[in-house]
Amino acid sequence: MEQTFIMIKPDGVQRGLVGEIIGRFEKKGFSLKGLKLLNVDQAFAEKHYADLSSKPFFSGLVEYIVSGPVVAMVWEGKGVVATGRKIIGATNPAESAPGTIRGDFAIDIGRNVIHGSDAVESARKEIGLWFPEGVASWSSSLS
Ligand code: CMP
Repeated sequence: MEQTFIMIKPDGVQRGLVGEIIGRFEKKGFSLKGLKLLNVDQAFAEKHYADLSSKPFFSGLVEYIVSGPVVAMVWEGKGVVATGRKIIGATNPAESAPGTIRGDFAIDIGRNVIHGSDAVESARKEIGLWFPEGVASWSSSLS
């Protein structure tokens, strides 16, 4: 079954949006497979955002991600990568539709509350980076 990596960024945690965000994914019908609150260091944040290392906002982005705890999650379900991105909304909150997480809770691209993998392959990589210990599963009799 398809999985995606979702991270609630330090601004989302600090603003008390964790329950709201988890609720949106649960109510849509996706299954929570991994969840942890943690601080990441600069090297880890740089690895997560390695594809953006040439961007002018890269150092500010890394500084933001290490500024406080983040909630790292793995969600599973049919089409969860693309649908998860729809639930999250456009990267720039100025363009994200009302009803999406960023559309409802963010105004600044540099403080956009949440990250979601942009493709199945990046989800696989990001889950491997953030959850090297693996994720949870149901016994076959309950799934
Ligand atoms: P995210 O979905 O985590 O993917 C890359 C992140 O880079 C993005 O959300 C934003 O937090 C950040 N980002 C993208 N474009 C800009 C920008 N122009 N200025 C600042 N941050 C940006």
